[in-house]
Amino acid sequence: MKNVVYVIMFLLFFSSVLFSQTIWLDEIDLSAIESGWGSPHANKSIEDNPLTIAGKTFERGIGTHAVSTLLLKLDGKGKSFSAFVGVDGETKSEKASIEFFVLGDKNVLWQSGVLKINDEAKKIELDITGIKQLGLLVTGSTDGIDYDHADWCDAEIELIENVPLSNLVTKRGIEPYILTPKPSDNPKINSAKVFGVRPGNPFLYTIAATGKRPMSFGADNLPDGLTIDKTTGQITGKVEQRGDYTVTLTAENEFGHAERELLISVGDKIALTPPMGWNSWNCWACAVDDAKVRASADAMVSSGLVNHGWTYVNIDDCWEIKPDAPEPELQGEARDKDGLINTNKKFPDMKALSDYVHSKGLKLGIYSGPGPLTCAGFTASYKYEEQDAKQYAAWGIDYLKYDWCSYNEIAKDRSLPELKKPYSVMRGALDKVPRDIVYSLCQYGMGNVWEWGAEVGGNCWRTTGDITDTWASMSRIGFNQAGHEAYAKPGNWNDPDMLVVGLVGWGPQLHPSRLTPDEQYTHISLWSLLASPLLIGCDLSRMDDFTLNLLTNDEVIEINQDPLGKQASRIYEQDGKQIWVKELEDGSKAVGLFYVDTRERKSPPDYFDWEKKDKTTITLNAADIGITGKFSVRDVWRQKDIGVFENSFQTEAPYHGVALLRVAGVKEKMD
Ligand code: GAL
Repeated sequence: MKNVVYVIMFLLFFSSVLFSQTIWLDEIDLSAIESGWGSPHANKSIEDNPLTIAGKTFERGIGTHAVSTLLLKLDGKGKSFSAFVGVDGETKSEKASIEFFVLGDKNVLWQSGVLKINDEAKKIELDITGIKQLGLLVTGSTDGIDYDHADWCDAEIELIENVPLSNLVTKRGIEPYILTPKPSDNPKINSAKVFGVRPGNPFLYTIAATGKRPMSFGADNLPDGLTIDKTTGQITGKVEQRGDYTVTLTAENEFGHAERELLISVGDKIALTPPMGWNSWNCWACAVDDAKVRASADAMVSSGLVNHGWTYVNIDDCWEIKPDAPEPELQGEARDKDGLINTNKKFPDMKALSDYVHSKGLKLGIYSGPGPLTCAGFTASYKYEEQDAKQYAAWGIDYLKYDWCSYNEIAKDRSLPELKKPYSVMRGALDKVPRDIVYSLCQYGMGNVWEWGAEVGGNCWRTTGDITDTWASMSRIGFNQAGHEAYAKPGNWNDPDMLVVGLVGWGPQLHPSRLTPDEQYTHISLWSLLASPLLIGCDLSRMDDFTLNLLTNDEVIEINQDPLGKQASRIYEQDGKQIWVKELEDGSKAVGLFYVDTRERKSPPDYFDWEKKDKTTITLNAADIGITGKFSVRDVWRQKDIGVFENSFQTEAPYHGVALLRVAGVKEKMD
């Protein structure tokens, strides 16, 4: 008998050794991790450096950024979890403060307490027997997520039996699905209905139209000084006389004729509708060069984006000389003898580049900052604002993103006068040059910039820190815009940062956006409702049909570009559902019904979607949006009328997705 017991014990021991499996956290599909900034890396920090906590380097693990969540499905097959956790030292910032949590089925099994930059790594050793779902969470403690680089080092999970890695994570994302019908062969004009220009400054407006080519364009009643190129639809010239001019645009092809009115307003205001275009940062970051910018301009035309009103091709950071850079192509004299800024070798001829972009009917943007250096350490405009504005105008630049960064060292404090000062200085410099340059303030929302961005002459201002291609980042930024609507108007826009659909990656390596298709519909719908500048952040030369569909629905774009220039307000928020409404010029309303499911995060379990529902029903009460009587509802993504309703309308929205509608009161017929 004794022997039998020994044999059984031996077999149990042997089978547990034989069948147990150790999984390193760095082996799992990292796209399952949501991080508040950047992309998590295996065996590297969030910024791709060796994992280092308080000077100690670890070979294995995951580098992520608060708020970071990962939910693992163990189904009771777990045995133990161990790791060392702490703040990665790469930022060297005292501001870093994070807290790690391990949760098992909604219970906190372990928590680190607040960890700071030089705190030793904390060891975790946990029995996870019987746990069905294991949640790994990093929060930004109580002071937000700035500099919160977080490492899970030597992180191992022991299982009682073999489980394929892919079964451990909830595969994010379902197949992309296209909702919008392709534009027809008939001509249709899609470009903005209003356009502002300053008297005497160079004018460029390209008629954006879909329909079969060849197409011939016209513009009746153009003010003196403007002409149209009938084959390209580009209207160019200069108008000296202030005033509002109503022009009739036409487009014609073998299938028919289209007309649309355009109001040209010659006065002090530009950017009368939110700027639409592309920016190099979210895809290429510092890997940007002249060839990539030209390729983007080419792709904007060849993909057809240009036919939907996409216009700006904006170079972000890294075109200037980088003092002390090891790379030869970035070295050189920062400025010439007159103080005019030089480009680095990746941009051999900025004027030629701008001519190239303009020849396609597009516009070119550039980037600088009020400090001595840009965020990536390249030459910026401090004390050379006038020379820089002059140089941009001479090159033919149409858009300037002006990024605070090293002005931190110049500003005495964060008082309002200090925050405003550098932006007013550059405004003054831009006002001296004979060119319309859209002025985009970038200082991440400090001092409630939305309250005074217009006062310092900004056409738009970033209201937040950097976006990244995760639900946590995009949804936090987007849905936090509630309350800013009072400050948006033609010529002055809140900017919740650039779009993260398509291939992104902060270069040179790119990856498909980690947002699910439904999250991408939410992203584009919300940014349109918010009347936000729309700056595509992906590689335009490699867009798939899904991405192109997201960016070329003219009814969605029309909501963003509506001449009234109102930003949507949130009118409902309950049970993870939100309703946003934007007033439109024709008296109708754009309405977004979102299934956001961002429950208030009061405690660690709230960070996880333990029981995710695929869809939910949302009810729109007509009275809540000021409509009485009957109203019509149109599905904007599908470009289809749904019907006429009374009092309320109900529809389903997918998890993290949206139903985007256009709703209008219906006048009852008199008998
Ligand atoms: C950040 C800015 C980003 C990008 C980057 C360039 O401060 O928010 O959008 O411009 O600098 O270094």
